[in-house]
Order: sequence, then structure tokens, then C-alpha cells
Amino acid sequence: MRAGVFDSGVGGLTVLKSIKEHRLFSDIVYFGDTARVPYGVKDKNTIIRYSLEALEFFKNFDIDILIAACNSVSAYAIEELRHNAPFRVSGVIEPGVLALKNRAPHKDVSILILGTRATIASGKYETLLRREGFTDITSVSPSLFVPIVEEGLFEGAVLETTMHHYFRHLSPPDFIILGCTHFPLIADAISRYFPDAVLIHSGEAIVEHLQNTYRFDQQFDKTEIKLFASENPEHLKKTAALWLGETPQSNEIFQ
Ligand code: DGL
Repeated sequence: MRAGVFDSGVGGLTVLKSIKEHRLFSDIVYFGDTARVPYGVKDKNTIIRYSLEALEFFKNFDIDILIAACNSVSAYAIEELRHNAPFRVSGVIEPGVLALKNRAPHKDVSILILGTRATIASGKYETLLRREGFTDITSVSPSLFVPIVEEGLFEGAVLETTMHHYFRHLSPPDFIILGCTHFPLIADAISRYFPDAVLIHSGEAIVEHLQNTYRFDQQFDKTEIKLFASENPEHLKKTAALWLGETPQSNEIFQ
């Protein structure tokens, strides 16, 4: 099995990491649209247009499934991608909701959704959660977390102050959906702020969803990763080395 992983930039490497660790695919093609990141502040039509352009790139590869690691793409462009793709397409929002549903002891749990402005404005997590019977839902868009993570500030005063800024009025939730590719990198800090909350991570959720939905006959010894970026592929490669703990095998440029 071969997969494509699409993100607005480098953040989708957090999702790639989970997928890779489970050795579900022999090959993964990753494309980060680093020239046009962030998507999370753009409107629906722009996100759809960028996603369909990325789809054309993925059509050059023999992949079985395209995974939209980006929550903002998952919020707005999944139907359009599915409609135009010759392979299966999965976003991360439905898997995230399912992962929460599987862990929640009852429907009265309190849920905090953290996502980009686009993801929160789409209301997609909230709609799907309400459809499942959950009612105690709060949505927050902590936009400053994205550049903070990009700066590698996974701990420390800047992050603590920013968390306080966004979280100070909130009651501690039972569950937190990390509805943005960047947030798993500050999961430890978020857990310290809300020590009793269960965190839902897109990478783990998509792995669960893939394992439950498709037949994986084998685990591959190794996953060959090819990285592509629309700008500054060196940065993507360096981030991959840092976050994945390995230097990917290829670093071709897509423009
Ligand atoms: N990848 C985006 C997401 O998960 C976060 C970064 C961006 O705004 O593009 O929504």
C-alpha cells in the first residue's frame, strides 16, 4: 500500500510520524504547500482551490490513498478532493471524532476543540460531535500556537503565557481535540495546563481509522518517504529530521 500525505506546510509531519510508526505503507509521498502556508487563516474557496491543485500533483504517483493531514483542508475540501481523485481520500476530522467517541465513557463529557480559524469557522468537528450526541463543546482557535510551534518553542515562558491567554476563562475539559497539525508538538504543555484531559491527536486517530477501514495484509519493514515542498524543501527536510528522528530519503522539489 502506498499513501500520499498532504498538508499546508511542515505540520503534517506529525501525522506522517504516526502513520509511519505503524508501518502501514511501503511508500509515503508527502507534499507540504510551504509556499502558501498557513491555510488556517484562508477562506473556504481558497483552501479548496489549493487542495485541488495539490491533488493534481498527487496524481503523478501510484498511491492507494491520499490523507489530508491538514485539519483546515479536512474541514473544507474533502468532498471536492474525493470527487476528483482516482484514489481514496481521507481527512482527519471524522477519524478524530470517532477516536473521541471510542474513548468517551458517556455523552456528557466536556470537549474542547482547538483548531485554526478556518477549522473552527467550518464547524465541522462540532457538527459531527453533536451528531454523535455530545453537547458540552467549546471551540477555540489559538492561532498563535502555530508560529510558536514553527519556532520550535515547545516549552517555556512564551508558550505558557500564550496558553494562559487562550485558556484562562475555560473550565478544565474532559477531552481536548488537537485539531491542527501543529498542536501535537505542544501536547505535553497542554496536558500540564489541563492535567485531567484526554488529548485526541489527528495522527493516532487516522491510524485507528485506517486500521479499522482498510485491510492491511502486512506491516512493512520500512516506509520509504519522499518529501515535496512548494518552497524551501530544505526546511521541510530539516524539520522531518527533527520531528521524525530520521532524514528522509528524498527531497525533490515541486513548484
Ligand atoms: N496544517 C494546518 C491545520 O492543521 C495548520 C497550519 C495552517 O494554518 O496551515 O489546520
